[in-house]
Amino acid sequence: MIVIGGPTSESLASRVAKELGIEPGKLEVRRFPDGEKYLRILTDVQGQSVAIIQSIHHTPDELLFEYLLLADTVKDLGARKVTAFIPYFAYARQDERFKAGEALSFKTVSKLIESVGTDEIYTIDMHQHRVLKSSEVFGIPSHNLSAMPFLAEHISKLGKLQNPLVIGPDAEAEQWAKLAAEHLRTDFDVFTKTRLGDAKVEIRPRKSNANGRDVLIVDDIISTGGTIVEAVKILHGQGAKRIQVACTHPILAPGALEKIKESGVEDVIGTDAVPSPISVVSVAPLIAEHIRTNGD
Ligand code: R5P
Repeated sequence: MIVIGGPTSESLASRVAKELGIEPGKLEVRRFPDGEKYLRILTDVQGQSVAIIQSIHHTPDELLFEYLLLADTVKDLGARKVTAFIPYFAYARQDERFKAGEALSFKTVSKLIESVGTDEIYTIDMHQHRVLKSSEVFGIPSHNLSAMPFLAEHISKLGKLQNPLVIGPDAEAEQWAKLAAEHLRTDFDVFTKTRLGDAKVEIRPRKSNANGRDVLIVDDIISTGGTIVEAVKILHGQGAKRIQVACTHPILAPGALEKIKESGVEDVIGTDAVPSPISVVSVAPLIAEHIRTNGD
């Protein structure tokens, strides 16, 4: 088994390799003067099962292309199997034609990943809203893992929240709120959200009341921070005490973190599925566990 991290996930791949007690595979990546990418695999992959870790975030088009170069080369050099670990899978939110003529980006990206000989794919808390199962999009075996138990464990170890109410800021977040609440042995609820623009959402409460309760808000992605800030306003209005926030993918558009902190949240944490200043929880043990069990 060989674990290779693409250029954006080198540190994560080193952590995964360490968990597995192996050395990570090596790459050389640079740019030609005209802007084209140069990629060379320095580890012998002939006949091997290769796990490629490449999170596709922030500059998704470039990082996707790096994955395609990497996987295609690994296969061409004679690897027996290529398993993609794409912790953050960009474009998953464009899973439908919201307006006539729009690109179905989720589907296009999936087709590209398969086209270079990827045999199996793992994602982590991938945005699955209208597409409920990744098998609806991928033609290869696919698995969507969750980092929520790891985030909940970290929150629990911080020990600041007493019997917290777990809140998912929209209907899709129910899956994550449920997982975190199970881990913390507490109750959960979700709000309802209407997106009014790229950075503007409207959030309404449902049945729960946070009056006098500590609250943990969980979500898959924090991008502009708009969703979290609106949820916090409702919770403060209800009389919530301490509020902490956990997400798997801290995309954090400029100003997002400041906005969330100013809203009165005590701690905001995320995972290294997307490297960021708040990526305090590692998904390496989660990935390593699946490489171990899948490891052919
Ligand atoms: C979308 O519904 C996701 O689950 C997140 O809630 C969303 O991406 C967060 O985006 P923002 O931080 O820009 O509100």
